Amino acid sequence: MKIHNLLWMSDLHCDQATTKNCSKLLRDLKNSEYDAAVLTGDTAASATLISHLKALADACTPRPLYVVLGNHDFYGSSLYTTQDQVRRLCHKTPNLHHLQDHGVVWLNRRTVLLGHHGWADARCGWGSKTRVPSPDHWCIDDFRKLDQAGRFDLMAQLGNTSTSWIRKNLNTVLRKADTLIVATHVPAFQTSAHYNGTPCGPCHSPHYVHSSLGGLLIGAARNNLEKRFTALSGHTHSEIRENILANLESRVAGAQRGKPRIQCILPV
Ligand SMILES: [Fe+2]
Repeated sequence: MKIHNLLWMSDLHCDQATTKNCSKLLRDLKNSEYDAAVLTGDTAASATLISHLKALADACTPRPLYVVLGNHDFYGSSLYTTQDQVRRLCHKTPNLHHLQDHGVVWLNRRTVLLGHHGWADARCGWGSKTRVPSPDHWCIDDFRKLDQAGRFDLMAQLGNTSTSWIRKNLNTVLRKADTLIVATHVPAFQTSAHYNGTPCGPCHSPHYVHSSLGGLLIGAARNNLEKRFTALSGHTHSEIRENILANLESRVAGAQRGKPRIQCILPV
């Protein structure tokens, strides 16, 4: 497979958009020039997630669409049930791939793409002591049944699981790849997490930063200075592009509720 143009989109929230605006996105996906697409989560709440993913994959056909899920994709359901439905859809949709089931994707001879949903792991700012609640805690079944301490434990656990998955898969390709693109839903760096254009403060950042992933990527980039790392994410809806290190770039997609759009087409 030789992919040199990777279309990126995130936080489409198609369930909050009009049919007209969703159709425009699908038309744009059909008519744009790219070799593959990646979607970094928050496509729609669970009730309509599968139909929106199917429509997006069809619009990308015959190009592959690689997806990770975001916290909103699980709303109204559980983590397991939602991921199981996505797996079944991928099974019968040849060009749709759930990145965490798919493993590492070689986009071309030098570049790999890998991804996992990631999670805000409550390690930044005031951590579990924050007074700011997250709707995840009552909109996702797994959180709703827990007490307050259990909910923050689960956030940390989900963040750790994603980071471990990415560590394991990064290690398998680090020697061979020159460029590594890591797709998750939640920004891995505190400086990349802005909301409405302003940096997230200590009360919000527990819910907006996947801190353990940031640590992993900084370590990997420092130990492999000749390689280029790009972290793609969404979640905060405020567009950010920053260099964390000379060889580590963090990009967060901008989003406007109700207006799903292509973020950009990345040369890879
Ligand atoms: Fe999100």
